[in-house]
Amino acid sequence: MTIKTVTTQPFTDQRPGTSGLRKRVDVFQQPNYLENFVQSVFNTLTDRRGQTLVIGGDGRYYNREALQIILRMAAANGVGRMLVGQGGILSTPAVSCLIRKYRALGGLVLSASHNPGGPEGDFGIKYNVSNGGPAPERITEAIFQNSLNIREYYTLDAADIQLDELGEQQLGAMQVVVVDSVADYAELMEQLFDFERMSQALRSGALSIRFDGMHAVTGPYAHAILEQRLGAPAGSVIRGTPLPDFGGAHPDPNLAHAQELAALMFSPQAPDLGAASDGDGDRNMILGRECYITPSDSLAILVANATLVPGYAKGLAGVARSMPTSRAVDRVAEQLGIECFETPTGWKFFGNLLDAGRITLCGEESFGTSSDHVREKDGLWAVLFWLNILAVRQESVSAIAHQHWTRYGRNFYTRHDYEAVDAERAQALMDALRRRGSELVGQRFGAFEIEYCDDFSYTDPIDETVSQGQGLRIGFSGSGGGPRIVYRLSGTGTQGATLRVYIERHEPTPERHDQDPQIALAELITLSQQLAEIEAYIGRTAPSVIT
Ligand code: G1P
Ligand code: ZN
Repeated sequence: MTIKTVTTQPFTDQRPGTSGLRKRVDVFQQPNYLENFVQSVFNTLTDRRGQTLVIGGDGRYYNREALQIILRMAAANGVGRMLVGQGGILSTPAVSCLIRKYRALGGLVLSASHNPGGPEGDFGIKYNVSNGGPAPERITEAIFQNSLNIREYYTLDAADIQLDELGEQQLGAMQVVVVDSVADYAELMEQLFDFERMSQALRSGALSIRFDGMHAVTGPYAHAILEQRLGAPAGSVIRGTPLPDFGGAHPDPNLAHAQELAALMFSPQAPDLGAASDGDGDRNMILGRECYITPSDSLAILVANATLVPGYAKGLAGVARSMPTSRAVDRVAEQLGIECFETPTGWKFFGNLLDAGRITLCGEESFGTSSDHVREKDGLWAVLFWLNILAVRQESVSAIAHQHWTRYGRNFYTRHDYEAVDAERAQALMDALRRRGSELVGQRFGAFEIEYCDDFSYTDPIDETVSQGQGLRIGFSGSGGGPRIVYRLSGTGTQGATLRVYIERHEPTPERHDQDPQIALAELITLSQQLAEIEAYIGRTAPSVIT
């Protein structure tokens, strides 16, 4: 089969963001747009010849078309073997699992995560490296530089691969292996969790679960693991079929977008555990009966209960959280006497710590939690972790959370997002706040006195890479580290800019633990709007999304 060389012109907007390249579908459908980016990835992988790569996506619109284009280009670029998820389906954590298990050079995930899909929605592509984790900045930057100078790409004149048939096929000199999307991942889960105990509890009805697949990638995984292997009754998984437009819904697991699940969990029919995952299966939301667990609390509770789970029975090496994540886990780590790292937003910053064995569990406030079993956040893993804890403790989610808060205090926490705002004005807001930083220190606002104001900078403890400008932190004096407000601009949005404001306060008194976080944090929320002059800069009096 002859290799075709196609002449092309660079696009100037192919710099990967927090999590790969994300654009609207029609941007990706422009002639040569996807091809340019993919060729830039291959050009960066100078050692790709004869190697294995993994590829799959979350089933969103354009998934199959993009896969066929990339497979032909991989063959023309000398890749030895491609492992493809059946039907083009692989969750992000499953890609990470396959890269590690089959010692692949890396992998490509086709997804725009929790962004809406369909012809009017978003598409995305991200590259993961040989440890199974997202490509570090030096690689994404090299890909971007390549994309600015690209003049040609390589492909084959060849028929489409049969994506639905398991087994080997040939594409030019490259072998394509269509693999079961779930099997290897399910096997890994079985090594970590007490499947027998969970299965007994689910089959006997002692424990019940409702999992919302949001018509995205985790449906097949949840059907296979929760219903088929663990024996949860049919119907425990809802919206379990991946659809190209996610059924018109937004595959983001939060209370606003998983409404049916949220309504059930706050009704008399609620099962013991309610959970949801996002477009590509790396995020998770955890609910108990009449109880919502923030991702920050979930991380802290998993860490505190880790030794109840077989895969973590020996204890944890250390833990990490992204900077804007609440400091609830810090208190648990302190009591356990293990290290706790504060990293910039984005999963890639956990990679070195996990590889070096410095941490075992880590998480972000944005519904991401995982451990050293893969190098991505893992939605279903978090759900199984909770299920395992519930099967052992035989207490409700709410009781477990309340006991946790009684012991460590509760970190009231909320994130306010101002979406699709003017990018220049959002930048001006951040710049102004940064300039005023030093003059704010020592100032008093009602009961709150500003103790520090800084622009978060991180030096990776393993390779000493410095990442600057990772978000403005305003810390107030007080117990438990003091209240805190964090401002940063999103790196994953596709329309204008999104300003994220993270607000947190530690409450030691158990009698006050049942307050609504929006009420417990009301004064700080108002202050967050005043300090940054949000209305003056971006013309918004209220956030678009509250989590
Ligand atoms: C968001 C989240 C971040 C997460 C990323 C990818 O990024 O805040 O924690 O790692 O999505 O899922 P942001 O849009 O804030 O840059
Ligand atoms: Zn995701």
